[in-house]
Amino acid sequence: MKKLILDVDTGIDDAFAILYALSQYEQVELIGITTSFGNVLVQQATKNTLQVLELFEVDIPVYQGAAASWGNQTYTVPDSFERVHGRNGIGEYHLPIPRATPKELTAVDFLIEAANKHQDELIVVTLGPLTNLADALKKAPETIKKIGKIVCMAGALTIPGNITSVAEVNVYNDAAAVNYVFEHLFVTVVGLDVTLQTMITKQDIARFDRKNKKGDFLAAIAEYYYQNEYAEQDYGGALHDPLAVAIALEEGFCTSFIELNLTVEQTDQTYGRMIGKLDELTLIPKRTRFCLQIDAT
Ligand code: BDR
Ligand code: CA
Repeated sequence: MKKLILDVDTGIDDAFAILYALSQYEQVELIGITTSFGNVLVQQATKNTLQVLELFEVDIPVYQGAAASWGNQTYTVPDSFERVHGRNGIGEYHLPIPRATPKELTAVDFLIEAANKHQDELIVVTLGPLTNLADALKKAPETIKKIGKIVCMAGALTIPGNITSVAEVNVYNDAAAVNYVFEHLFVTVVGLDVTLQTMITKQDIARFDRKNKKGDFLAAIAEYYYQNEYAEQDYGGALHDPLAVAIALEEGFCTSFIELNLTVEQTDQTYGRMIGKLDELTLIPKRTRFCLQIDAT
């Protein structure tokens, strides 16, 4: 059976992605979760991840990773993230302090260890900044290149961004790390172009059974996300991270991929914009597969 690692910055849609991955236990084994800064500080992302796992009574090892982007020592959560995911990252929902603690091994060393052990049986899906993956790649390039499949929820190619008019959050949070990954690995990219086609609806939320703890948690965080993801509109709730996991496990959800070499701009005005790499447009083989269209039915 294939092995799966999720790299998360939990986050409401990350929480849904973790639970979606767990629900696919018949086809993939979730062997570990690595955490990073992003929607919240890394310590909070780790805590949220452990709390969600505990609520759903599953024992999956969690490895803490990057606290800040390449070249930075610290990270401050932007106000807009707090609006979307709540100050605690899970829509202000209160869950008990988790009994489990993160493993001693770092996220980077776990990624390297798992790549070595499982090689092309391993699928890695990044749902936050690409810092952990880029760090692992820098530390053990030949080992990380053995990973069977890497899917990243990142970027926007044909539509505007969600943190600035040109940048998507996960790319914006560490553009240099994204570029390092794009230069050295073959990755499948699931961006806003398709994740904005999978919105949670009021009908979806109504299906959760609020009479039990799990259902109440899911309904509450989904509602928070629905109400806050897009301040200017009357609804939000794009299932960015769950869609990336779904495509990683079942490529058929993506009905059109474009293969190309991508780069991320790192200069002030267009910082974080994902775009075709001009001097490598004709280079073959390509290093990135970007999902352009999905079957959202
Ligand atoms: C991405 O940014 C985060 O806020 C979400 O968890 C998702 O990974 C969407 O742009
Ligand atoms: Ca995320």
